[in-house]
Amino acid sequence: MKVKVEKLDNFGRGIAHLNEKIVFIENALVGEEVDIEIKKETKKIIEGKVLDYHSTSPKRIKTLCPHYYVCGGCHLEHLSLVEENKFKEAKIKDILKKFADVTIPINNIIAKNAYFYRNKITLHVKNKKIGYYQDKTNELTEISNCPLANSKINNLLEPLKTLARDNDIEKIVIRSSNDEKQILLNLTGHIPNYKSILPLVDVLIINDKVLTKKSFINTNIGSKQYQISANSFFQVNKELTKNLYDEILAIVKENKYIKALDLYCGTGSIGLYLTDYIKEIIGIDYSKSNIIDANKNKLLNNSQNIKFICAKVEDVITNYSNIDLIIVDPPRAGLDKKTIKTINTIEPQSIIYVSCDVVTLARDLKILKEKYYIKSIKPFNMFPRTYHVECICHLILQEN
Ligand SMILES: C[S@@+](CC[C@H](N)C(=O)[O-])C[C@H]1O[C@@H](n2cnc3c(N)ncnc32)[C@H](O)[C@@H]1O
Repeated sequence: MKVKVEKLDNFGRGIAHLNEKIVFIENALVGEEVDIEIKKETKKIIEGKVLDYHSTSPKRIKTLCPHYYVCGGCHLEHLSLVEENKFKEAKIKDILKKFADVTIPINNIIAKNAYFYRNKITLHVKNKKIGYYQDKTNELTEISNCPLANSKINNLLEPLKTLARDNDIEKIVIRSSNDEKQILLNLTGHIPNYKSILPLVDVLIINDKVLTKKSFINTNIGSKQYQISANSFFQVNKELTKNLYDEILAIVKENKYIKALDLYCGTGSIGLYLTDYIKEIIGIDYSKSNIIDANKNKLLNNSQNIKFICAKVEDVITNYSNIDLIIVDPPRAGLDKKTIKTINTIEPQSIIYVSCDVVTLARDLKILKEKYYIKSIKPFNMFPRTYHVECICHLILQEN
């Protein structure tokens, strides 16, 4: 069946129409005429797979990754980075308009390299083969390299293949410092013959047992130093995180904040980035590992005016008042209702909302907009070649 792609959906899939149904097609760009095979059909939608291209878009590029069409980890490798950035700006605009009636300009997405930006990857092993599980399946795509990961990580894949042959590995997490000098390897499985990998890593952890002197790696964002353990959260884009944090810093520098909350603080990375410009900061995160690292990071950066609390944000946020800035950086699920309600009661002068999911951002802005006006929304392409995009939204308390 031949269809013509009219636009892209929020997941980067082509949208067309057939027999009054919407057709979603992976790897199909606007304007392309394609023959499709129907993979799934319901009363309203069809999911199609391209069998043949009658015409291709000038925006289509040759893919770098040999595994792109089977792996499923990336969604937009067939589109140029310039067009990917335009797609992400338009996606943010559309979703915010549709779900929160936000109409302020959103452009100038900050983006750097399309490839080799990740400082962490998670791989699985099946039948001694190392790779990624295809989206929502048990099918493993064996990989020889991953062009999203930095070269320090990619260099470890060949030795890991040998290790996988000699052991029963289940899961592999590789994390490098942003300068690619240190590497942490966290393995799960039955791995008695691990000695060959020891000289190649700074930290080796097998089934939660630390087998090296160090249990963490040291990394940095700008001039700030961070120690990161295997189970702690850290931003994955080794280059663009500095730009993201600099944007938050620029907002902070414009104002004189006295007391700030850094909610969902991870290892304290945002709060610590701001300690020279805010009198007192309290970071909250529910992960023990994150808070242990955050307290070490406080010492590493000699920051006296920040403290960290290990708790669920929604359980402790009601304890706070007289706060003039609240920074939130929640997971994709966004803020829960109680947290938003309490933020609205605390009435900080400013909110900086760092979001990795624009749909939940829109849902939360719809409520926050009752008391706050949106001063700016800046997009950051933290996850090139995928449909994911990050934003920083600055909200200011409306005067009555
Ligand atoms: C997107 S990360 C942000 C981390 C940090 N701001 C950064 O830039 O590295 C989200 C963090 O929220 C934490 N988290 C998720 N749900 C939480 C909750 N209900 N209460 C407290 N922390 C939570 C996770 O442990 C994770 O560290």
